[in-house]
Amino acid sequence: MNRRFYVTTPIYYVNDIPHIGHAYTTVAADILARHNRLAGKEVFFLTGTDEHGQKVEKAAVEKGRSPKEHSDLMVGNFRNLWVKLNISNDAFIRTTDNEHIKTVQGLMQMLWDTGEIEKRSYSGWYCTPDERFWTEKDLVDGNCPDCGRPVEQINEENYFFLMSKYQERLIKYIEDNPSYILPDTRRNEVLGFLRHNVLGDLCISRPKQRLSWGIPLPFDEDYVTYVWFDALVNYFSATKYLAPDANSTPPIPPLTKGGSEGGGDWWPADHHLVGKDILTTHAVYWSTMLMALKIDLPKNIFAHGWWTVEGKKMSKSLGNVVDPNAMVDKYGVDAFRYFLFREVPFGLDGDFSEEAFINRINTDLANDLGNLLSRFLTMAGKYLDGMIEKPASHTASAKGLPGQCIAAVKSANDIKNWSELHFNIILDHIWDMVRAANNYIAQREPWKLAKNDPKGIRGVIFDLWNALRLTAVSLYPFIPDTTEKIWKQLGLRSLTEEAKEIQINGCEWDWDPGYEIKVSKGEQLFPRIEKGKDTAPIPTLAKGGEGGFSDKSSNLISIQDFARVEIKIGKVLSAERVKKSDKLIKLQVDTGEQRQIVAGIGKAYSPEELVGKKIVVVTNLQPAKLMGVESNGMLLAATGSNGVPVILMPEKEVEEGSRIK
Ligand code: MSP
Repeated sequence: MNRRFYVTTPIYYVNDIPHIGHAYTTVAADILARHNRLAGKEVFFLTGTDEHGQKVEKAAVEKGRSPKEHSDLMVGNFRNLWVKLNISNDAFIRTTDNEHIKTVQGLMQMLWDTGEIEKRSYSGWYCTPDERFWTEKDLVDGNCPDCGRPVEQINEENYFFLMSKYQERLIKYIEDNPSYILPDTRRNEVLGFLRHNVLGDLCISRPKQRLSWGIPLPFDEDYVTYVWFDALVNYFSATKYLAPDANSTPPIPPLTKGGSEGGGDWWPADHHLVGKDILTTHAVYWSTMLMALKIDLPKNIFAHGWWTVEGKKMSKSLGNVVDPNAMVDKYGVDAFRYFLFREVPFGLDGDFSEEAFINRINTDLANDLGNLLSRFLTMAGKYLDGMIEKPASHTASAKGLPGQCIAAVKSANDIKNWSELHFNIILDHIWDMVRAANNYIAQREPWKLAKNDPKGIRGVIFDLWNALRLTAVSLYPFIPDTTEKIWKQLGLRSLTEEAKEIQINGCEWDWDPGYEIKVSKGEQLFPRIEKGKDTAPIPTLAKGGEGGFSDKSSNLISIQDFARVEIKIGKVLSAERVKKSDKLIKLQVDTGEQRQIVAGIGKAYSPEELVGKKIVVVTNLQPAKLMGVESNGMLLAATGSNGVPVILMPEKEVEEGSRIK
């Protein structure tokens, strides 16, 4: 078995503000990367940004910055989002990296030297926003067939990659390799296009006088490289300097005439994940470029579908662009990751609506999974003091829960499901296991066994523990944060370490971690969301926002992110304990306006001593309910020794309502 796995996302236009579509591809790649790491493979997961071309140049000029300065600023939007979405990319490529530039130039030179590129004068219709030439017959009502915007006629000399001569070879390659382009519907579309159209040659240069922000052609300094040629090469160039063990010094490939060019041990990629709109550039341009360069083709190009929002195309002008940052803030990272892959088969178009999202959270995550864990932990605590042990002579019945779970894990791990990216089917199988465990509780009625069958109750709790353990392992690629929490609550230590062993050695029912297991209840995984009550409309993306750079390792946030948090001085008007809670105190606070806040400070403070005090309050948090009592904001407190909260108070007299900046 191949021990290495290389997966890529498209490199996103650095100028764009990330939206649900970008998040979709990147989380998909993350799921594959995490799954393969657990399966014991060495993984290279690459994402990054596409930074050259007219759009970036134009946006930079408008902002009075150089294109590089502009890219340096904007790239933070993507880096920050990937941290927030718990993306485990191994590298982040930018097409302005020196090593990438050298590789592009090296490959370009190779094509020139081997006669794969020709200089020609050319006249065509150019769509500036899409940076593409069209022929007269491509145009729709005289406009760009892709975006509908006006095109301009351009006559100039340019360099052309002789793509047309690879048409037959490409058709044959796709026919001979059924999994090269997936899903099948997309493969058939590409084949149909190639069989019924004459493939042209590809213009791979732009004159510098028209566009200077690009990689200079190595053989003609008056031209820069067409942005798609530059961008596609990223998948290959990264293997030379960003992949694990890549030798960082020689980014330029050996330019042997006609020789086969390898990318080191990481090439070819296992999957290029792309959206359906950029399948042609990958399936046709990239494939033929590689053929001409005598480099192996990637093993698979997978084109996923597009998200619409409540039945409408997502667009800035409609103001319905779904902002993944806001979704995560509102519903949590794992609820968002789960929804994207549960709702719609990867490959088909999907429709996003807040209602469908909340339904999924409430049914699958809060009800099925969250309740299962919570009921199990309560029973294990109550009946067995949290201790999990395999009772002597306990057998894992093939027909009962063990058999059902092991069958579900096997189906969820099925190679075809993973190689063809059937994420929703994989989740279906995992949910068979969750449902089986819930049914098992209903059938075995542990509360009855606890009274008169000590061996029976230990067996049932042991079985449920195993079912949850296997559920956590199987779900880990999709919802890594939550499954780590489940793992800890199950009394286990490190999911990624221990689950690797389980994945590799099969999913035995009597797997023994080698230490004593005591389960303990932790925080609720997915609180139910009350429709209409706790929810504001779908957060959409504001136009033209800009982010700042944030580095994953240092966990920095940008000043813009910090500025979104509103913190004010509040004066406590009254305070009382929340009924049936020794921890919660309900406060009426004046922060320039009166608001109710519920705080977990009841063990350290009495309500009486708080009245009249000035405190520090986060005032723009989403309302939340704590033990049924609404809280509109959060009081800031430090965690003192032994976990005792210590309330922050201003050092000098300051007006209530004052903003903290
Ligand atoms: N820079 C090029 C890719 C070069 S790869 C060598 C590019 N960038 S992009 O930022 O415009 O788009 C990136 C991805 O976002 C594409 O795969 C595209 O399909 C995806 N999506 C954009 N809108 C989308 C939806 N509404 N739904 C799902 N994905 C969508 O293209």
